[in-house]
Amino acid sequence: MNILIAGGAGYIGSIAVKELIKLKHNVIVIDNLSKGKKELVDKQAKLFIGDLTDKLFVQEIFSNNKFDAVIHFAAYKAVEESMIDAPKYSQNIIGSINILDSMVKFNVPKIIFSSTAATYGMPKTEIVNEETKTEPINYYGFTKLEIENIMKWYNKIHGINFIALRYFNVAGDGGLKYIDPEAKNILPIIMEVITGKRKELTIFGEDYNTPDGTCIRDYIHVLDLVDAHIKALNVKGNHIINLGSNKGFSVKELVNATQDITKKIIPLKSGQRRSGDPAKLIASNDKAKNILGWEPKHDIQEMISSTFNAYTK
Ligand SMILES: NC(=O)c1ccc[n+]([C@@H]2O[C@H](COP(=O)([O-])OP(=O)(O)OC[C@H]3O[C@@H](n4cnc5c(N)ncnc54)[C@H](O)[C@@H]3O)[C@@H](O)[C@H]2O)c1
Repeated sequence: MNILIAGGAGYIGSIAVKELIKLKHNVIVIDNLSKGKKELVDKQAKLFIGDLTDKLFVQEIFSNNKFDAVIHFAAYKAVEESMIDAPKYSQNIIGSINILDSMVKFNVPKIIFSSTAATYGMPKTEIVNEETKTEPINYYGFTKLEIENIMKWYNKIHGINFIALRYFNVAGDGGLKYIDPEAKNILPIIMEVITGKRKELTIFGEDYNTPDGTCIRDYIHVLDLVDAHIKALNVKGNHIINLGSNKGFSVKELVNATQDITKKIIPLKSGQRRSGDPAKLIASNDKAKNILGWEPKHDIQEMISSTFNAYTK
């Protein structure tokens, strides 16, 4: 297939590019390199450096290439920043509309979109399925939900097919030795503690209603995530699908597992609860199993050991 990957120089996108090329797909990448890195993009892919908010730039790429599908990873994704710089995060929506308009103009039938568990906000149930009410509590989550809704309309009006994949906590290294330049997720932060870039790991809240008092989250290996996108390329219809493991790990369990695997001590500091952090957030992945024929194959130990390898070897 001829596939356009938006955001293909980032953490997840660059692994998707590598895996798709392994499968002999023809890949073109758009990235503004705001966070992504040229060196992460497989040499067999063609990289166009530019911004999705530049409608003419996007149109030109579509007019010069014939695509069978778009996989759209490009977005700003820092939750806290989205609450202080909404205009920057509105670009997530504008860029997505530019992609969709070009898809209509140049007859590209299908888009696979990176959505997020942040669309659910603070769900009342511990296990979240796709019927769970979506009530984002930050602007980032709102932009992703809005793009899902816009894709529904582009399907109604123009027949563009979409699959929105709502990722839970993505972790692990996919073979490119990715180091997060702005670590905001727990495993990269732990790795910064291990490698001496940070003094300690702050645990935000130890009095939650969970067995050890710390928050429980659902982690998914980046290679499993990419595999779901590859499977989605051949799935018909329009779907919104959770990508998670159906299992939860608490912050303390993750720290203990990391200490066991890496043989390193992780200094800890107690912090206050952060607003908007539910005690427990676990994905039901039944729909992913049924519709994509997908199941996660890599466990939390592999997420930890591959990340440790990327940061230290
Ligand atoms: N990593 C996670 O845990 C996680 C969880 C849920 C959802 N997501 C979503 O998955 C997608 C990929 O995440 P990631 O972790 O690889 O992030 P990333 O920041 O590493 O990759 C995003 C890429 O998009 C590019 N980009 C951003 N805005 C752009 C624009 N306007 N025009 C062109 N390029 C642009 C960046 O330079 C970067 O290379 C994002 O849409 C993110 O919201 C990620």
